[in-house]
Amino acid sequence: KPIFLKDYRAPDYLFDKVNLTFELGEDYTTVTSSILVRPSHSGGSPPLILDGAEPKDLELVNVKVNGKALQTGDFERSQKKLTIVSPPAEAYTLEIETKIQPQNNTALEGLYKTSGNFCTQCEAEGFRRITFYQDRPDVMARYTVRIEGDAARYPVLLSNGNLAEQGDLEGGRHYAVWEDPFVKPCYLFALVAGQLTHTEDKFVTMSGKEVTLRIYVQEHNKDKTAYAMRSLQAAMKWDEDTFGREYDLDLFNIVAVDDFNMGAMENKSLNIFNSRLVLATPETATDGDYTSIEGVVGHEYFHNWTGNRVTCRDWFQLSLKEGLTVYRDQEFTSDMTSRAVTRIGDVQRLRMAQFPEDAGPMAHPVRPQSYIKMDNFYTLTVYEKGAEVVRMYETLLGKAGFRKGMDLYFERHDGQAVTCDDFLAAMRDANGADLGTFPLWYQQAGTPRLSITTHYDEAAKTFTLTTKQEVPPSAGQPVKQPMLLPVTVGLLGPDGADLPLSSVNGRPLAGPDGAAPTSTVLRVDQAEQTFTFDNIPARPVPSLLRNFSAPVRLTSDVTDEQLIFLLAHDSDPFNRWEAAQTLARKLMLDLVGKAQKGDTLQLAPAFVAALKDVLTDAALDKAFIARAISLPSQSELADMMAVADPDAIHAVHKFVTRTIAAELRAELQHAVDSNRTRDAYSPDTASKARRALKNTALGYLASLNEADITDMALADFRSSTNMTDQLAALAALAVNPGEARDTALAEFYEQWKGDGLVMNKWLGIQAASSLPGNVAHVRSLLEHPAFDMKNPNKVYALVGGFASAAVNFHARDGSGYEFLAEQVLKLDKINAQVASRMVSAFTRWRRYDDDRQSKAKAQLERIVRTEGLSENVYEIVSKSLEPA
Ligand code: ARG
Ligand code: ZN
Repeated sequence: KPIFLKDYRAPDYLFDKVNLTFELGEDYTTVTSSILVRPSHSGGSPPLILDGAEPKDLELVNVKVNGKALQTGDFERSQKKLTIVSPPAEAYTLEIETKIQPQNNTALEGLYKTSGNFCTQCEAEGFRRITFYQDRPDVMARYTVRIEGDAARYPVLLSNGNLAEQGDLEGGRHYAVWEDPFVKPCYLFALVAGQLTHTEDKFVTMSGKEVTLRIYVQEHNKDKTAYAMRSLQAAMKWDEDTFGREYDLDLFNIVAVDDFNMGAMENKSLNIFNSRLVLATPETATDGDYTSIEGVVGHEYFHNWTGNRVTCRDWFQLSLKEGLTVYRDQEFTSDMTSRAVTRIGDVQRLRMAQFPEDAGPMAHPVRPQSYIKMDNFYTLTVYEKGAEVVRMYETLLGKAGFRKGMDLYFERHDGQAVTCDDFLAAMRDANGADLGTFPLWYQQAGTPRLSITTHYDEAAKTFTLTTKQEVPPSAGQPVKQPMLLPVTVGLLGPDGADLPLSSVNGRPLAGPDGAAPTSTVLRVDQAEQTFTFDNIPARPVPSLLRNFSAPVRLTSDVTDEQLIFLLAHDSDPFNRWEAAQTLARKLMLDLVGKAQKGDTLQLAPAFVAALKDVLTDAALDKAFIARAISLPSQSELADMMAVADPDAIHAVHKFVTRTIAAELRAELQHAVDSNRTRDAYSPDTASKARRALKNTALGYLASLNEADITDMALADFRSSTNMTDQLAALAALAVNPGEARDTALAEFYEQWKGDGLVMNKWLGIQAASSLPGNVAHVRSLLEHPAFDMKNPNKVYALVGGFASAAVNFHARDGSGYEFLAEQVLKLDKINAQVASRMVSAFTRWRRYDDDRQSKAKAQLERIVRTEGLSENVYEIVSKSLEPA
């Protein structure tokens, strides 16, 4: 079953031109595909093997070669393939007619229906559910698409490229013909047909070309597209300014649909989005939603160059486009909002979700070496760690060097399907750089452990860092080599200012202006190394791994006092935040040990005092303060324990939260009061920052569960005029059981039951609750009219939300595991991709105690024994059960 990178072979046949005709219908849709096929090399004509789907999903009507129907024996149709046994040795036209039933397609890949409209999702391998094809990204063709459908039911007919022709047909039907002038792999094909309205704007490119921009939505959402449109225009401008990349067609379309497995899809000039990443009004979308919309609209737009113009040779190279495009969207968000706060959020996400993935049974390199189902490899490792790998080039080569590498990459590979090695070669060649062991980042799974010890030599005035790195073993990779890690460091003098770094290991350092820099990038590439800084007048406080310059688990001998000093003074804002987090992690893990022994808990006063200084520092960005006073997540702490103990972690989290709230009550109350405003909602960075601080403070206060705070939250809940504040108040009220909680949830439901996206938030808050015995409540919500098992967003909110609350998912009695297994088995029959995402919550099962392990294992075994299981779920579960 598994497919291996080492087995890659270039295709025997190329497809130069594809003409597709869709006759959309209510009972079935007919697809006629006419392909100009050309042998890729002379000599022999091996069988042409086309990918397809099971007969129940894809009915073959006929096959023709150069206009002549093939007879039995000339072709073979197996379960999922169509083979042309002995095709002509010269170029020829292959014509295939198939019938499909999009209206019954609940997998939401290929052509399917959502809210009565047709839409597609082809990446990674959905095109084979539409027609038989060489469904692989290194087969690139020019497409012409003709769509025919009922004019009343499907007034809007869209595909990639330019509209070439449209008109009416008999019987109330009409048609449109779309031509895409750029070659593309089939995963970038898209079709949309239905009752949609659009908003329109334009963008004038740097060379003066006018591009029409349209966002298509259902009629009732017409007033919710303004922010997405603004984001698109900002993204187009940013890619010109930052990377010199201009848009290449006269039209760019975005379509928002309610049923979508993932976030969004970069189909050439016809991006299709999960509606939660397009639709926004102040009343219905939170600040977080606004930020995501801007980021994802940017992400999909940036794919036009990093993904579409230059695509992947095979799916093992997915990070070539995804890691790079995530890096690009992170940079875009940094430039549009706050760079420091963006970086903090990105690292938090990496730590919370990618580090555990890298330490579990699904651990894989940024470029995986094998897979059973490609859809299982749209992972945090490929996306988020992949973006860190791209960021490391930037750190090693500098911003200008990185840009040179990007320019060369586009120059060399425009119109091609390439590999991660090609990207590396462009970066290396454009800079004449020695990248040493850097390529290992594409081969070795697992998060490197980096430990740093320091020594100050009073007499010699030198400061020495000793680094040790180790890449932990993972499935199939028992032994690993050290890799090149760029480690950015600065040294703080006694006054808190950065010391000039004149030389390291005897090599003089010079900043851009020739003067000694205050930060430098160390190339750490051995198992053990030392770096000695000269001319250090007094014992410094080291600021290590500034801006999180490499995705590693760092330990060091920096003391608690030094961390508090860094929190107060570091010129690198990321490391100020990191200092507070490192300290909090240490203190909390220590408390978890105490809680397990039943000892009384106490929180170090110095920590609370340091948080108070941050909270009351008027010079700091409020969004930064909100992040800096927030505790590490429970999953992050669990990930750091030898045997994760969700109950003790939860107890400690609650204790620390309440202690801080009690000790800093006045300051937190002030943060709430002084940041409440009557101003109309605006999603600008400063306004978002105010709300972030206010709502973080409110969350702390809510933990005290006192009547006056509850009254305040309920009043805020009722008077709020935007979703950010309303939802924050609801979340605060939902922490404590009781009448206020029930009232607020009921009022929220009454107010918003007509809005599916807002209902997902309502489901999510209840599902992810840590209140004891929540599984029963979540079960009852499965029957609620606000829930729908066929809608991925609702499943992610309710089932995914439940699995994210460790105390209930890992409940001692196994009820959480049983619940999840049941839902996975139900889902697997409907939508295997969604089922597979949900079952992934089990992958960490070995991190818990024996009793929990045996209960989780029993559920995994129950799943894997189930007949007719999808490959998607099978892959995750069988890998989870493999001996560690
Ligand atoms: N390329 C899309 C994006 O990152 C995601 C497609 C996900 N598809 C999948 N089958 N997992 O923008
Ligand atoms: Zn992407």
